[in-house]
Amino acid sequence: MPRTRLPLVLLGLSAIVPLTLAQTYCNATSLCPESAPCCSEYGYCGSGTFCLGGCEPMHSFSPTSCRPNPICQSMTTTFANDVSRIQQVASEWNGNASAYDWYVNSGQIIPSSDGIKLVLNETNGGTKISSTRYVHYGKIDFVLETSKWPGVVTAAITMSDVKDEIDWEFTGSNTTLAQTNYWFMGIANYSDSQGLSVDVSSDTSANYHTYTFDWQEDYLNWMIDGNVVRSLQKQSTLSSDGTTYKYPTTPSQIQISIWPAGINTSAEGTIAWAGGMINWQDPDYVANGYFWNTIQSVTITCADDPNQASNTTGWAYSDSKGQTVPTVYDTTASLLINGGGRTTMSWTMYAVGVFTILMTMLL
Ligand SMILES: *[C@@H]1O[C@H](CO)[C@@H](O)[C@H](O)[C@H]1NC(C)=O
Ligand SMILES: *[C@@H]1O[C@H](CO)[C@@H](O)[C@H](O)[C@H]1NC(C)=O
Ligand SMILES: *[C@@H]1O[C@H](CO)[C@@H](O)[C@H](O)[C@H]1NC(C)=O
Ligand SMILES: *[C@@H]1O[C@H](CO)[C@@H](O)[C@H](O)[C@H]1NC(C)=O
Ligand SMILES: *[C@@H]1O[C@H](CO)[C@@H](O)[C@H](O)[C@H]1NC(C)=O
Ligand SMILES: *[C@@H]1O[C@H](CO)[C@@H](O)[C@H](O)[C@H]1NC(C)=O
Ligand SMILES: *[C@@H]1O[C@H](CO)[C@@H](O)[C@H](O)[C@H]1NC(C)=O
Repeated sequence: MPRTRLPLVLLGLSAIVPLTLAQTYCNATSLCPESAPCCSEYGYCGSGTFCLGGCEPMHSFSPTSCRPNPICQSMTTTFANDVSRIQQVASEWNGNASAYDWYVNSGQIIPSSDGIKLVLNETNGGTKISSTRYVHYGKIDFVLETSKWPGVVTAAITMSDVKDEIDWEFTGSNTTLAQTNYWFMGIANYSDSQGLSVDVSSDTSANYHTYTFDWQEDYLNWMIDGNVVRSLQKQSTLSSDGTTYKYPTTPSQIQISIWPAGINTSAEGTIAWAGGMINWQDPDYVANGYFWNTIQSVTITCADDPNQASNTTGWAYSDSKGQTVPTVYDTTASLLINGGGRTTMSWTMYAVGVFTILMTMLL
């Protein structure tokens, strides 16, 4: 069932929501000022970490106010008993993609011998981790066990700074079902007839399966355990006026999360989609103090780019006013924010910020 855009956008809000001045909002028509040049993925202007992953180049003071998207590197991360490649303190993330392969945007991870558990409790709003590097076409394999509780969602996605997105989503209410989706610059492609939901051979919460995006310039395949379960040709996404391919084409981070869809601030359709309200009296929750999913490994296979120079650090956006799809180019600019540190904005009124956004987006 189609749902609203709300939950994935809001996920991770608990990490960064300063809301102090009216001019700290940013959008397509109201760019950030030079003093707080970077537009975060949640639509607020700031500096420091605001200029890293998720920084919206087209809503920032200039597209290059955002640090470049760190260039892709083929790798496998095996999370079992190893969190050394994960920066767990979001505010200490400084953009050095050689130092970490992942960072925790919000929430908490718990190491285990199977992999990392992403945890959800009644107050943390869920957990989201992001790759430090971006993929600009390539293959991504997630090996994971989903959560199994109604109202709790597991997501493994790609997300670009201009909101191209490719999804795997799993609702705890049906653990033999995987849901696929994609978004072109924030616009969903909902179409049940396109094979949105696909059956999985065994319980997704009790068995590790490999969920793959094979995302290439001309096609996108979703695969489970090596079998293609949904296929999209870029050619088929051409808009009816023949001007735009509504297909994800921009460099994207890999993000994995657990999030609460079944809570009273969610839209009704979202709650129904996720299988109802979360039961915080569930014996698993009572015994552990959290709900979880388990991420065993992620393998990234970057698409070849024969034109990429050896000193390329990342991808940047150019000022492409008037173009529907912004232009991306290779850059040798630094990936780091000066001094590392957090934003220069005040962190007060945090709770008010969350509430305001929830209300704004729900209405
Ligand atoms: C963009 O932000 C400005 C300033 O906050 C606001 O007045 C305007 O309504 C916003 N536009 C959109 C489309 O949200
Ligand atoms: C980035 O991290 C690498 C690996 O930890 C380290 O060797 C390098 O000095 C760091 N670069 C900067 C500029 O801090
Ligand atoms: C919920 O999890 C967060 C970390 O994500 C932790 O700081 C907080 O104490 C937890 N709350 C409860 C009630 O366990
Ligand atoms: C899960 O979804 C599949 C496919 O739509 C359906 O056949 C099955 O009955 C569902 N299971 C539950 C527990 O809802
Ligand atoms: C979704 O994608 C399919 C296949 O490309 C296309 O036929 C359909 O019109 C798209 N739907 C929307 C809402 O864009
Ligand atoms: C929403 O749920 C929270 C706890 O999960 C509760 O404290 C709050 O009162 C509820 N709000 C409404 C409007 O039901
Ligand atoms: C990067 O390498 C190219 C040659 O591949 C060279 O022309 C260019 O000057 C180098 N740029 C920097 C910033 O080192």
